[in-house]
Amino acid sequence: MSFTYSQLFAASLVSVIVYRLFQRRRRPPLPFPPGPKGLPLIGNLRDLPTQYQWLNYEKLGQEIGSDIVHLKFLGTHLVVLNSEKAANDLLEKRSSIYSDRPQLKALTELLDAGSWVLSLFPYGTKWRTWHKAFYAHLQPSVVHRYHAIETKANQQLLCNLLDTPQEFLKHLRQMVGQTSLSIAYGIDVDPRDDPNIALADEALQGIYVAQNKGRIFNYVPFFIHFPWWFPGAGFKKDAETHKRKLNQCRDEPYKAVKRALEENRATPSIAASMTIDLSEKSTQEETFMARALPSNIYAGSIDTTATAVQSFVLAMVLYPEAQKRAQEEIDSVLGHGHLPGFGDEDALPYLKAVLYELLRWGPPGPLGIPRRLTEDDVYNGYFFPAGCLVISNVWAILHDPATYSEPSKFKPERFLDSTARAQFPEAAFGFGRRKCPGRALAWDVVWLAIARMLAVFEFLPAKDADGRPAPPAQEFTSQFSSGPMPFECIIRPRSSTAREAVLALHLD
Ligand code: HEM
Repeated sequence: MSFTYSQLFAASLVSVIVYRLFQRRRRPPLPFPPGPKGLPLIGNLRDLPTQYQWLNYEKLGQEIGSDIVHLKFLGTHLVVLNSEKAANDLLEKRSSIYSDRPQLKALTELLDAGSWVLSLFPYGTKWRTWHKAFYAHLQPSVVHRYHAIETKANQQLLCNLLDTPQEFLKHLRQMVGQTSLSIAYGIDVDPRDDPNIALADEALQGIYVAQNKGRIFNYVPFFIHFPWWFPGAGFKKDAETHKRKLNQCRDEPYKAVKRALEENRATPSIAASMTIDLSEKSTQEETFMARALPSNIYAGSIDTTATAVQSFVLAMVLYPEAQKRAQEEIDSVLGHGHLPGFGDEDALPYLKAVLYELLRWGPPGPLGIPRRLTEDDVYNGYFFPAGCLVISNVWAILHDPATYSEPSKFKPERFLDSTARAQFPEAAFGFGRRKCPGRALAWDVVWLAIARMLAVFEFLPAKDADGRPAPPAQEFTSQFSSGPMPFECIIRPRSSTAREAVLALHLD
């Protein structure tokens, strides 16, 4: 008797479901948090949103009248925290049991990223060691070391925007890539199309593809043992190529740093300083860390920071009054045509509020990165089983109308009123021990970008065929790192003085 692929697939899926259903079934001591009623066998599998998960999870919470939503599918429990209170109470205050990450097999095993991508590490000794080393180079007290690199990349950005403003989305990404590669490896990137940036982007793409096409391996980990030709396991074949690219992007720039150190021509960088710190007594793990840790700077920053500055341009086009007020502030404090520098931050409170609002209005990581609960827990009378996945709905938290009136509107002034409830939107960088370690660097890069772009450029809607303004839609992508949908706009110098200020920049 022979079987078709689909029969084999159906048979294996049924066995997985049966196995999961009977595996470690136990009666919870208290009810699980509320959630939509699931179907027999598959549970809430069909309730798992595939698009705009943050909006759908928020809607689910509103429908069931709870800020915590529980879903169960194929034996997996998932809890979504839709309020800041719940996220703080659990991820911050009980961080000793909420700081683990689920082991997503498509990434950790098929792409072998689990051994060196910090955000994927389980909570434990290795995470602590790597995180400590990473944070030592990125904590608020040391990031001023990178101001010169950030300023150089920023000058390049302003020149690129003057030359080819229509390519602004690319230029903004390039500025972030240039900054992070320079900080990590001392690489002097090509100002327009750098091969290192192209390689890193291609490699990162593999992570997104794995999260999407390899999702089955995360839900049903033992599927990983099936051959690639087995229905549903096809991603195993592509995974080899993605893994090679990722390893290449981790190792190639590091090799260049090592060569430069041997030839006494290395420029200061995190990779160089970690390598210099190695000695004959260093363990294999320490040597591997020096090789792999710096690549986390590019991986952690490129999508998040680039989407933040891209969202800024969208906000300026859609909310001209905010743009005008920020420009008036810069002109009155520094004089028209002067480029703000890091020392001007406190003198420009409205600009600071623009950045707060940017992180709130279009958070680049709207769902954070999932956690895994390591012990049974009870919260508000509900039972959270050990092993359950926990998602903080950053977007819902930052769009809660109880804290932020008219949350979909870009209103920086909400942060200026000292009696208002709105405070720095900390949630944009996550919670507790796994909170973003790159946040101080991200702040500096984004602040300088928006301050200097506002000082010299104006941002206007593109024109339609009849010459009328055609503002873009206020629409964000549905990806894990969410930014504006590609859009067109006009970016031009605010005046001849502003144009001269950009032309006067010296690029070496
Ligand atoms: C505007 C820019 C950025 C935003 C909005 C952002 C946001 C986030 C968020 C929400 C998380 C998950 C935190 C959690 O689990 O609660 C995270 C983690 C992380 N971020 Fe960022 N990030 C940004 C920039 C950066 C930069 C510039 C770097 C590197 C220099 C970086 C490196 C990381 C790393 C390594 C993790 C994982 C930490 C861990 O798992 O221990 N991020 N980020």
